[in-house]
Amino acid sequence: MSANIVWHQHEVNKSSRSKSLGQTPRVLWLTGFSGSGKSTLSNLLEKKFQEQGKHTYLLDGDNVRHGLCGDLGFSDKDRVENIRRVSEVAKLFVDSGVIVLTAFISPFQVDRDYCRNLLEDGEFVEIFVDTPLDVCEQRDPKGLYKKARAGEIKDFTGISSTYEAPQNPEIHLTYKDEAPEQTAERLYTMLEEKGLV
Ligand code: ADX
Repeated sequence: MSANIVWHQHEVNKSSRSKSLGQTPRVLWLTGFSGSGKSTLSNLLEKKFQEQGKHTYLLDGDNVRHGLCGDLGFSDKDRVENIRRVSEVAKLFVDSGVIVLTAFISPFQVDRDYCRNLLEDGEFVEIFVDTPLDVCEQRDPKGLYKKARAGEIKDFTGISSTYEAPQNPEIHLTYKDEAPEQTAERLYTMLEEKGLV
């Protein structure tokens, strides 16, 4: 918290913005291994939201790391900072009335909880994309697991860096051998059942 800086309360606020957009803003936070399907699923989910006239924004690890977090690597310290920045940005989007989807490995529970604690009750939806490591490694869409096994990439999640599975996620999406479109439908239904869409 910065000293000598006082928060300014503006008259147009989250509540009025949400009202004019006709939606409840939240963060749908997808976490899981690299290759678990976070980006693919969040993309399909965002398309579905858009079809229904919802206003969304997708924050994706691979993209954010080209800009906002382009100075960060994959040490524990850098990952913490990555998630801290993304959490603050997600909070701003929620304040703007938008439904935010995020696709980050976000391997540490304490960092996912950091984002949860920035938001109001019910605004943070932790979605565990629970695709087993061996499936992710078989998929290896970017050839990174191969490189990590060969020692060419250090601190690789699941190989040489920890992943802490969510302890109590709102949604636990277990892997099934099915098309991504079907998984996205399953996820959407789970969100619907919980009154989150
Ligand atoms: S996080 O751990 O800080 O949340 P983030 O989701 O932003 O990670 O970035 C993960 C993506 O970066 C992976 O999908 C993968 O494409 C790439 N990547 C490159 N190096 C690593 C690494 N050492 N560990 C994990 N992912 C890596």
